[in-house]
Amino acid sequence: MDIVVLEDPVAVGAAGADAIARWVEERTDGALGLATGATPMPVYEALVHRHHDDGLSFAGVRCFLLDEYVGLSTRDPCSYARFIRERFANLVDLPEDHVLGPDGMAEDLDAECRSYEDAIAATGGIALQLLGIGANGHIGFNEPGASFGAATHVEELTARTRGDNARFFPPGTTVPSRVVTQGIGTILRARRILLVATGPAKAEAVVRAVEGPMTTAVPASALQRHARTTVLLDRDAAAMLQRPARPERRP
Ligand code: F6R
Repeated sequence: MDIVVLEDPVAVGAAGADAIARWVEERTDGALGLATGATPMPVYEALVHRHHDDGLSFAGVRCFLLDEYVGLSTRDPCSYARFIRERFANLVDLPEDHVLGPDGMAEDLDAECRSYEDAIAATGGIALQLLGIGANGHIGFNEPGASFGAATHVEELTARTRGDNARFFPPGTTVPSRVVTQGIGTILRARRILLVATGPAKAEAVVRAVEGPMTTAVPASALQRHARTTVLLDRDAAAMLQRPARPERRP
């Protein structure tokens, strides 16, 4: 893993956007994997600026989301499908049918998981995957204990993750307990991975993921076995690292 420590979330966003913009301009095949949640927002904001100011075009790019809540439709304001449309896809020139997420409303969720894997494979696989990390070390919604070999599947969220994500739901609403998520096996098949983490609440998960033992108790530690993973951190998220990180440089 390549660890890069930057000043603050805006610098992490700019560095993440640089790496994605370079891939978009130079890509030859494969798709872009998108994360939702709060941490990647500065990345998307920087990409939207590059689209408007520098003409960066996403017109031919195919994108796949990591996960979706079971029971939320793509129109639901709390769904990740809607989140990514409103915060990124609709603000650039991404055709609507180029952004796919798991269907949390599918009657047969196992069939949906299989067809999601097929759809990813049909585009040539994920060339570049953007990831966040949960405070308990989850990636996608692979909670502690998830198998490192798993494909897209239905996962039960921990109480901690549901509590952490309550901030994205209106007060009084119940956070769904189940999600469809790309598995860690799916994530590890991405040819390049960019994990972003910012803020003190992520410091412990980060140090366990990058310096701790590789263990299913810390799903993000699976990335230690991936050949091309870059971890972009701000100073707060890097605060517990013991090994010296590289100085700021282009990821
Ligand atoms: C979201 C996702 C999750 C988040 C993680 C961190 O698609 O897969 O793994 O990246 O829960 O979320 P934030 O950035 O909101 O702290």
